[in-house]
Amino acid sequence: MTAIEIAVGDAAISFEADRVGALRQLGFRLRTPEEPRIDRGPFPPEAFPLAYPAWGQDVSQPPAFRLSSHDGRQTCYPELAGYEHSGDEHRIRLADEQLALTVDVCLRVHPAEGVLEQWAEIRHDQPGAVTLHAAAAATPMLHAPTPWLTRFDSDWAAEWSAVAAPVPVGTTTIQSLGAVRPGLQACPFFSLAPDGPATEDTGTVLAGSLAWGGGIRLSFERRIAQPAQLRVRCGQQPASYVLDPGVVFVTPHMFWAWSADGTRPLTHRLHRFVRRHVIRDGQRVRPIVFNTWEATFFAFDQARLERMMAGAAHLGAEMFLLDDGWFGTEFPRADDHAGLGDWEADPAKLPAGLPGLTSAADRHGLRFGLWVEPEMVNPASQLYRSHPDWVVSEPARPRREERHQLVLDLCRPQVREFVTGTIDRILAGAPGISYLKWDANRDISEPGSDELPADRQQNLWTDTVRARWQVMAAVADRWPDTELMLCASGGGRTDLGTLRWFHEVWLSDNTDAATRLRMQWHASQFLPPQVIAAHVTRWGGQDLAFACAVAMSARFGFDLDPATLSPDERAACRRAATIYREVRDLVQLGDEFRLIAPDAPGSEGRAALAFNAPAARRAVLFGYQLAAGNGGSTATCPVPWAAEDLVYRIRQVTLTSEDEIVTERAGASLLSEGITWPLTAERTAVLWLFNG
Ligand code: DGJ
Repeated sequence: MTAIEIAVGDAAISFEADRVGALRQLGFRLRTPEEPRIDRGPFPPEAFPLAYPAWGQDVSQPPAFRLSSHDGRQTCYPELAGYEHSGDEHRIRLADEQLALTVDVCLRVHPAEGVLEQWAEIRHDQPGAVTLHAAAAATPMLHAPTPWLTRFDSDWAAEWSAVAAPVPVGTTTIQSLGAVRPGLQACPFFSLAPDGPATEDTGTVLAGSLAWGGGIRLSFERRIAQPAQLRVRCGQQPASYVLDPGVVFVTPHMFWAWSADGTRPLTHRLHRFVRRHVIRDGQRVRPIVFNTWEATFFAFDQARLERMMAGAAHLGAEMFLLDDGWFGTEFPRADDHAGLGDWEADPAKLPAGLPGLTSAADRHGLRFGLWVEPEMVNPASQLYRSHPDWVVSEPARPRREERHQLVLDLCRPQVREFVTGTIDRILAGAPGISYLKWDANRDISEPGSDELPADRQQNLWTDTVRARWQVMAAVADRWPDTELMLCASGGGRTDLGTLRWFHEVWLSDNTDAATRLRMQWHASQFLPPQVIAAHVTRWGGQDLAFACAVAMSARFGFDLDPATLSPDERAACRRAATIYREVRDLVQLGDEFRLIAPDAPGSEGRAALAFNAPAARRAVLFGYQLAAGNGGSTATCPVPWAAEDLVYRIRQVTLTSEDEIVTERAGASLLSEGITWPLTAERTAVLWLFNG
């Protein structure tokens, strides 16, 4: 057969069957205009790596795919059995007739954004169930002579901690477990530069992300004998699954995007892709959110909330979000020991219930949002008293509590109905609620479900993610006008699979502005700032003007008690909200330019990023001085998006003073000279607003 080439943007992946029908991958890389197709030249297909190696085809490396048949056989020889191409979707069918098994290697191209989506579908017709031990979403082989990997390790309050390093010979892995908050161990995003480190605008880079809401394993394998070949193996973890005849096992989907010119074009592609194909209402700007958590924790009542609403409205917030602590009647949520599962307003704190709060918010000109953690239960709750069997647990094992709570078993249909029914009841009972923060604060231990037979308990790791997505999809479908924030002890869920039902993500509980700037910087390589909720808090007694300036480069909001603000702090917060309203279409929907990376050699404590809307000839540039430096120098910041033939009116503003410096600059001079950097003191910020 002839080779199958699947092209997207300026990259392509191609396959061809060898003499025995095994699928080989010829290449996965950028194509140059002079070399429009990937072909194998004079070499036979056998000279190329297996595309989706099954156990038996090659036992010298971990398989993409491994199973035990119903009769115990393990060897699998899938052969090319067909290729279908319809619209943007390609399906390469591999079959092992002896095992009555098909494996479809599936690819979808997104030509407008230059993104390739890849996954596998596995099905069999054996007389009994087979057990899958491995089933990768994708296992491409790259030609990577000097590979550099940028990965984002995580922990609570330390999400998106970037590590960039050469990939050593051997196996490097990015992995997470726990099924609920995998993003607290590792972000499912990476970038790989096959020819050595790339910059924002130079070098070849491949971005990858596994869209899965449970544990993941991404491995990067270089063999001693062939160090220029890099196998990237991407899939869920654990992957074991008992699969009945006739049922299709669909792996998580993997997303890829290539760039020949550094990470900036990748960012632009991925932002467009996430807005159009992942998040909800991706073309709409988001409100300024005022959250209560850091200000009150569990200590509030109607009167305090109403005072905060008045303060929030005065600051310029648009959405009042009531966080944890509002529910529980018999087991009131006075702290984190009780109440989860009992989603009735606590009458002691909120005598007029949720409608009393939505109407108060309305009086203050604010929309109203509410926190829920619907997948969890405290043993101290009416729900647990009535349904102790509804939790993930194993017989005769203690139910280990974390944050005094247990995980509800979403594999049970009654539990899924309970969760969707609860959200229906909350939203129908107080129609003024137009935003939900959906939280999840522990992982799964004792992974057992009464819903699954004894020989299928291992399926829980996969089924629980699918069941959760089913519930989230139902909520998004029934409540299309309710905005949803995705949260799991901070950024425990930041995957492109779960985000499909949401508008934004709470990136981290760490809101120290300098740390947050670095996290936002890294996350914004993949996620548009509109998705990245950033709230100004009193974390560490920080300077609020600086914290506002950092939060304004993402989806801006507050999480503090307005009653505690000094006059200067209040003025800075109000000014931030006013300016944010002016520039938020740029920040949330514009093209992002990361200009001076925090901690980059030669940055002298500076960091800068900008958002440009070329059609509107408008841009906003954020400058941050993270550490004192740059004293008396003539440092500048580049303005690479400037159009040569335009003259820009530039307003230089800060949040600490009403004064503005207004200048006019020709695009050509901005391009060649940049803009003069005015900051020297630690934790100070400046904004430039450009009109062409
Ligand atoms: C963890 C979240 O990350 C916080 O923002 C807050 O909502 C708490 N949970 C509430 O319990």
